[in-house]
Amino acid sequence: MSIVYLNGEFLPVTEARVSVLDRGFTFADSVYEVIPVYNENIFRVQEHLQRLNNSLNAIAIANPFSESQWQQILTDVLKKNPSNSSRSLYMQVTRGVSDREHLHMNDLQPTVFVMSREVREQDLAPGVKVITHEDIRWDYCHIKTTALLANVMLKRKANDADGAVETILIRDGMVTEGAASNVFVVKNSTVVTARKDGSVLPGITRDLLLELLDYAGIQYSEDSVPVSDLESADEVWLTSSSMGVAPVVRVDERDVADGKTGPMWKKVDQLFKEFKSNPGMLK
Ligand SMILES: Cc1ncc(COP(=O)(O)O)c(C=O)c1O
Repeated sequence: MSIVYLNGEFLPVTEARVSVLDRGFTFADSVYEVIPVYNENIFRVQEHLQRLNNSLNAIAIANPFSESQWQQILTDVLKKNPSNSSRSLYMQVTRGVSDREHLHMNDLQPTVFVMSREVREQDLAPGVKVITHEDIRWDYCHIKTTALLANVMLKRKANDADGAVETILIRDGMVTEGAASNVFVVKNSTVVTARKDGSVLPGITRDLLLELLDYAGIQYSEDSVPVSDLESADEVWLTSSSMGVAPVVRVDERDVADGKTGPMWKKVDQLFKEFKSNPGMLK
């Protein structure tokens, strides 16, 4: 039985209870993080905690804990759920419990929830299929909010389209990101991904990949990616904490290049694996 952290207590997940008046439930007034754990190392924990802090600031919730308090909670949750499998940590902070009024009081007690989950390792080498869709989300995609209804609908559409795993989103003719991932396009040996403006989540895996590209001397730019570049790309990759770096071999009804995993992906996948077993390699 998994043991979770809820508001200062560690308890079995089946006993963890949140009020129906919690604003996370009534308004999705809440933010979250998902952090992978590689070889018992909490992956890029400071970066994840910084992004959590940025999301909290953006919606005016005071961060309930210092960085070291958060790290202690995360470590305790892992200790209370010993496992030999790959895992990830899920953390959520809601504004807390109040009457169901849009306007909130400022002195609410945030609800804090942390759990660890086992992660199924995927074989990414064969590549994945994706679909494209208009980006129907709001303009503040830099906030990692649990208001994910559009993302849920977009993932569903992918799944309904004959085994696609992700939906790549298009806004005004430009690729923004995936429903739960960042997107990279490779053309003429240069890697391009969207800028970190409000149209994308500043992905932790995205930033790591850019560092790995730097390390390997591979050219990249952070720029607008027209949808036509997606159609004519040599390679397309998705990045996320859950998947790592996934090669895309088919977009809608078209193969990416020859429909096989490309040589650049093989290189970055190798680098990513090296980093997971030796995070100090980039220092
Ligand atoms: C919309 C969106 N973009 C990008 C990402 C990738 O971010 P990260 O690499 O930090 O997991 C996610 C992850 O959940 C996401 O939901």
